[in-house]
Amino acid sequence: MSNDLPNNAEQQLDQNYWDAKYQTKATGWDLGLVSPPIKAYIDTLQDKNIAILIPGCGNTYEASYLLEQGFTNITVIDIAPTLVKIIEEKFITNTHIQVLLGDYFQHQGRYDLIIEQTFFCALPPSMRQKYVWKTHDLLAENGILAGLLFNRIFNLGPPFGGSQKEYEPLFYSAFHFLNMDVAYNSIAPRANSELFIELQKNKNVTVVLYALNGIKTAAVAQEISSEIAKMPAVLNTSINIDFTEIVIVSETVLDLKELQKTIATDGAYTITTIAL
Ligand SMILES: C[S@@+](CC[C@H](N)C(=O)[O-])C[C@H]1O[C@@H](n2cnc3c(N)ncnc32)[C@H](O)[C@@H]1O
Repeated sequence: MSNDLPNNAEQQLDQNYWDAKYQTKATGWDLGLVSPPIKAYIDTLQDKNIAILIPGCGNTYEASYLLEQGFTNITVIDIAPTLVKIIEEKFITNTHIQVLLGDYFQHQGRYDLIIEQTFFCALPPSMRQKYVWKTHDLLAENGILAGLLFNRIFNLGPPFGGSQKEYEPLFYSAFHFLNMDVAYNSIAPRANSELFIELQKNKNVTVVLYALNGIKTAAVAQEISSEIAKMPAVLNTSINIDFTEIVIVSETVLDLKELQKTIATDGAYTITTIAL
């Protein structure tokens, strides 16, 4: 993936940005083959009729491999029209795959398995809480998020890296951690720098994304997070890096007025539910 964007250009990582990458064939992330850890994982799956989603699918060698193995219910989605036209043509005669042009965060559906392959790292880091919320939302009861996350830092992104230390609190309690270990079978250039994850949706919790307003510092974000964490039924909170969104995992649906009271220590901060 090219590292040609300044860090403050997160807002520009939109459809035009990604489409230009495909138009100019600047697709350095493209492995040209199914990622070996994901291939090995697919080989363990018994039920070929599960509903599978691959977000930010790119040329989706993973979908090709799934089809070769006889999987019958695959959906792939990508925001870049140039790419989607190519893969639509590639799979035009195959009824076991649905190719969608669209934004993952606007997509509606129910999936048993979501496959992660360099989609999370392509998103602005400020969207990580939204990714947790949306992925939980799209999974069926006991559904699984499986794939790879970078376990290293990059100077500039995309790709935006991270670490196990960061991912554990991010996904905590919204998902059961079946696996989060350094992949043993990454391609050589990514050796020891990827985590293979297998996270199962926690079906017994409510995961809600809220917009925050007025928070300017990490210290205030930390204080607000701690106050919310003390509320009855709250299991986890995670605030994004620019303090504009928070994902809250709880045993029951929280009362918005109570949440507002909890964070409005000096009246300057507001919280509202995000409905996409
Ligand atoms: C780094 S590429 C990875 C492509 C593919 N998964 C691979 O590994 O070759 C990231 C992909 O995510 C897509 N993308 C970015 N934001 C998206 C969004 N909000 N919804 C759907 N796709 C998105 C881009 O168009 C691009 O194809």
